[in-house]
Amino acid sequence: MGLLDTSYAAYYGFTVDQFSLKGNTAVISGGVRGLGFAFAEALAEAGANIAILDIGTPQAGSLEKQVNEVVETIEKEFGNVDVNINAAGVATDEPFLATSDKNLSSTFNVNFVGSFLVAQACANSMVRKWEKLGKPELEDAPRIGSIIFISSVAISAPRPLRWNWPNTVSGQFAVPWLNTNGHDEKVEQTFPDLLKQFNQESMFGRVGEPEELKPAILYLASGTWKTGQDLLVDGGVSSWKHRGNW
Ligand SMILES: NC(=O)c1ccc[n+]([C@@H]2O[C@H](COP(=O)([O-])OP(=O)(O)OC[C@H]3O[C@@H](n4cnc5c(N)ncnc54)[C@H](O)[C@@H]3O)[C@@H](O)[C@H]2O)c1
Repeated sequence: MGLLDTSYAAYYGFTVDQFSLKGNTAVISGGVRGLGFAFAEALAEAGANIAILDIGTPQAGSLEKQVNEVVETIEKEFGNVDVNINAAGVATDEPFLATSDKNLSSTFNVNFVGSFLVAQACANSMVRKWEKLGKPELEDAPRIGSIIFISSVAISAPRPLRWNWPNTVSGQFAVPWLNTNGHDEKVEQTFPDLLKQFNQESMFGRVGEPEELKPAILYLASGTWKTGQDLLVDGGVSSWKHRGNW
């Protein structure tokens, strides 16, 4: 079944048009792999033009200026930004009691400062779109844009993972443990038992796949009358203490 399957939509009483992002401009940070890549696929499938921001060669000068320039270039190529997803992130391996300020600062620089600057530049592009539309009042305004941050289920269900804690406090849509490049490598190599634990924590007995978050990201990125929402899609990690037998 496709993401926008019409029989599914008809069954649940909505139209697929409500999820269409046809012609929208989407800026996705961290979209080269993992969650960001899956989100880019989902939005492309819904008709959006995708611009991916990911690790490149560091340049001298103000980061804020560089981010603004990149977003302005995207705006010239595709039109004003309609959707921004901030999925660039890192998680490092240091215990809480001995976490270095270097780790703290590099994690916050990517997860918080980087996400903030990209969101700020995209929000300014959305404001320019609103101005072009004649600055309509909120109640008369069409959908101007969506900005989405990716966090972790650890913000609502704390867990004793030493390498994840600066990532959690710098967190920003809360997601559970997923089978992505970044976490997969670390979990399997450094803490071989952890994947087993993560699998057991989910009601479904396994960690999620990035593809399984596509409908959720599409829900957040499209439509109207949504703002300031947190969406927790975690395979039941925060709802079920034990899997049990039914
Ligand atoms: N995968 C999970 O289980 C999981 C769980 C909870 C939260 N998260 C969070 O979701 C986000 C994405 O996770 P993922 O598993 O897809 O990670 P990932 O490592 O597979 O992908 C992260 C992407 O971000 C990019 N990136 C890293 N630093 C960057 C920088 N300074 N500038 C631009 N791009 C940068 C990487 O190149 C990569 O393409 C992270 O913030 C992560 O902490 C993931």
